[in-house]
Amino acid sequence: MARQFFVGGNFKMNGSLKTTKEIIENLNKAQLDSSVEVVVAPPSIYLTAARETLRKGIEVAAQNVFDKPNGAYTGEISVDQLKDAGITWTLTGHSERRVILQEDDAFIAGKTKAAIDGGVSVILCIGESLDQREAGTTIEVVTKQLQAVAEKVQDWSKIVIAYEPVWAIGTGKVATTEQAQEVHAAIRKWLASTVSKDAAEKTRIIYGGSVSEKNSKELAKQADIDGFLVGGASLKPAFVDIINSNQ
Ligand code: G3H
Repeated sequence: MARQFFVGGNFKMNGSLKTTKEIIENLNKAQLDSSVEVVVAPPSIYLTAARETLRKGIEVAAQNVFDKPNGAYTGEISVDQLKDAGITWTLTGHSERRVILQEDDAFIAGKTKAAIDGGVSVILCIGESLDQREAGTTIEVVTKQLQAVAEKVQDWSKIVIAYEPVWAIGTGKVATTEQAQEVHAAIRKWLASTVSKDAAEKTRIIYGGSVSEKNSKELAKQADIDGFLVGGASLKPAFVDIINSNQ
């Protein structure tokens, strides 16, 4: 079954209103492969501006969401507020939040469930650290991260899984095509055995970690790589080449 190629751009905590608008203008005028689903995740303060200026056909994602409905949660953003602002996607579980903000598997699973239940699609990020890879526990680590979500979420049709080895994020050290394909295949196997065969066939598993216009074509050829979550390179004009790398 053909899965629609998916490319996300995670701007992280970078840029200004001016540079965010410049990136958007560049995307608006670019020739993009129309078969690719494109979603960009600017910092939360620029979500509305991004949605108002981006062309139709490109969706906007939050980089984070809270697991509770509107209420006294200073500094947080709810699923309803995202929807109200026309934001149809959110990231959950990015390693920068797991590590720096100490978000654990259960909290991330709760946010993922809140988003899905509320009608916001999720790019669920998982991945191992360098120590874990060197200890040979990569598959164990990523399936444990997924298992926490499976305990709370039954319907995976609105989830894109982003496999992002932590050692490859922002380091210029991209996983080899074999390393990435091996983990993606293991994730698909896990989906088949834990969620359903249908979920295994249909769920997009995208790769993130030092993706650039130089390595994206090779990665895109792998059977279980259905797209990318791009950090640093999504801030540059070359993001367009990454979006078009599956042609
Ligand atoms: O969310 C994106 C990932 O953290 C990858 O970031 O492309 O800068 O390595 P990067």
